[in-house]
Amino acid sequence: MNILKLKVSIDDKEIKVPQGYTVLQACELAGIFIPRFCYHADLSVAGNCRMCLVAVAGSPKLVASCMMPVSDNMHIFTDSQSVRKAQQGVMEHLLINHPLDCPICDQGGECDLQDQAQYFGTTHGRFLGIKRAVEDKDIGPFIKTVMTRCIHCTRCIRFASEIAGISILGTFGRGRATEVGTYVEKLFRSEISGNVIDLCPVGALTSKPSAFSARSWESKKINSVDFFDGMCCPLTYEVRGVEIFRVLPLKRTSQSNWISDKARFAFDGVAFQRLSTPLLLSNVNMRLEQMNWSTAFQLAKIDLAFSTKNLFCLGNLVDVYSMSMTYTNFLKQGGACWILHFPFFWLNIDFRSKFLYNDRYENLKDKEVCLLINCNPKKEGAVFYGYLKQRITEGSLTVYQVGSQCDTSFISLGSSVYSLVCLLEGRHAFCKAILSAKTLTIVKGLSLNQRQDSFNIDFLIDKMINTLFPSNQEQFKYLDLNVKEKCNVFHSYSNTASAMDMAIHNPFSNMILGKTFFDNGFFTGFDSFFTKPLSNMVLSNIYYTGHHYDVGASVARVILPSPSFFEKKSIALDMQGSAFKLEAIYNFSKSSKETIASSLPFLV
Ligand code: SF4
Ligand code: SF4
Ligand code: FES
Repeated sequence: MNILKLKVSIDDKEIKVPQGYTVLQACELAGIFIPRFCYHADLSVAGNCRMCLVAVAGSPKLVASCMMPVSDNMHIFTDSQSVRKAQQGVMEHLLINHPLDCPICDQGGECDLQDQAQYFGTTHGRFLGIKRAVEDKDIGPFIKTVMTRCIHCTRCIRFASEIAGISILGTFGRGRATEVGTYVEKLFRSEISGNVIDLCPVGALTSKPSAFSARSWESKKINSVDFFDGMCCPLTYEVRGVEIFRVLPLKRTSQSNWISDKARFAFDGVAFQRLSTPLLLSNVNMRLEQMNWSTAFQLAKIDLAFSTKNLFCLGNLVDVYSMSMTYTNFLKQGGACWILHFPFFWLNIDFRSKFLYNDRYENLKDKEVCLLINCNPKKEGAVFYGYLKQRITEGSLTVYQVGSQCDTSFISLGSSVYSLVCLLEGRHAFCKAILSAKTLTIVKGLSLNQRQDSFNIDFLIDKMINTLFPSNQEQFKYLDLNVKEKCNVFHSYSNTASAMDMAIHNPFSNMILGKTFFDNGFFTGFDSFFTKPLSNMVLSNIYYTGHHYDVGASVARVILPSPSFFEKKSIALDMQGSAFKLEAIYNFSKSSKETIASSLPFLV
């Protein structure tokens, strides 16, 4: 932990800063803004733009404040004549070849170069000549490149190699011919690639789906959370009129501000293939026909009244509100009713700590070792993967993995249950390294509990943890010791914890696995009908409530449109079991009134 102890003076104002801080961080602490382009708090320091030069007493030259660590009794000057002149010189240099096409640049209004040129630049440049032009690169469907605007800050390059884990971006050429791009034409294939759009300080990398659609100052900002991720990362919808035009991460101080591409770009799918009116599959010609809501409710009432066996199924992206309402309806039915949530997990839900991520995410930065058990963060939680990669790049975290290796920087301990047995018995080659860590976190992927033998594996993991760390609570000092749970369970989606709180996570295995007949199936956002073990069931009459015409709708007799997660005010539960408010962006679908009206499950 940092302790305030170094005394420095900044522009003749004395402050105390933690040891290890750079001059730039010290200035930030003192409330003085230092212009910067290449520096970013969540990336390694490159020190190549020279925009952050400051004067330090005793130093013959100006120093790059982002690279220079503070020392005791340092005297820093951020506003001297030499500093001002240097900033103006760097800015003039950057603008020699910059196209300055601000009126047609999507970054306009939120551009670091624009802002800093206003404050730290001069009113005119001294260089006249033909500006260079750089060919744009095609790095995928999400990121639009206008490389003539690039100022070579290398933030995107560092993000790709340090956080996203793919070193596909780099600089090539020298001097005036320097370019940033992929060496061989390649796509930027990463689950968190969109973050380079936020990182790029200029308009070289912008969002392709929202190109030329709006200016940042025209949008209304609505704060919500990432519904697709178990961590429920906070984000902001930027709405223009009745449409989301982009999604940005919400600034956090305790953690990096990454969001996944799914969270950032999924909103455009909401406008297509939407269900907008109740539909009934005609018995006569087997075609879907429109009907009104009162007929649909009536039909459901009759079907329920004359049925003996009903099945309620909830999809994995159903919000807490719909989940609890469906659960209440299920309880009201009485008789032979079953309720399921997909995917299915075989695990003990008697204690919340058995299915939650018990530690705090921000504590990851204090860990030396992370042991992943059957967890593929790259696929299951891209933002969490970014955090791990960031720490690995800093050299402060070692990640061990039991299960299939998802990244070459993670050390594989084997992919079978036998590896866990070896760890339990203390004869695994890496036992010593793991045990010598001062702080350790164990993360178990919830996907492990989709195996039918997962009760046994959970027992093995508990035993391994208790044997390896019998009383040494120091390693788990950040955990609530009353919980006495040392394992963090990793969820791929939000609201899985909520299904477990309601005990609807578990298949009634014997019943479902066999060939079972149900009179009615009520599917809410559930599109996994053809997955095992459900494919064995026989359902004669399916009601599908959802927002898109998906697999679930294609097998249904009655289809009832509902609002999507962007259009509904509700609650999401993250894998720590914390609740977050989901805000609504209405009017996406043509018949918004119906979709709002149907925000309650239809049986209420
Ligand atoms: Fe203008 Fe900034 Fe775009 Fe350059 S990157 S054209 S300065 S808005
Ligand atoms: Fe920096 Fe943007 Fe150029 Fe990448 S594309 S080096 S982030 S200016
Ligand atoms: Fe310091 Fe670029 S911000 S050199």
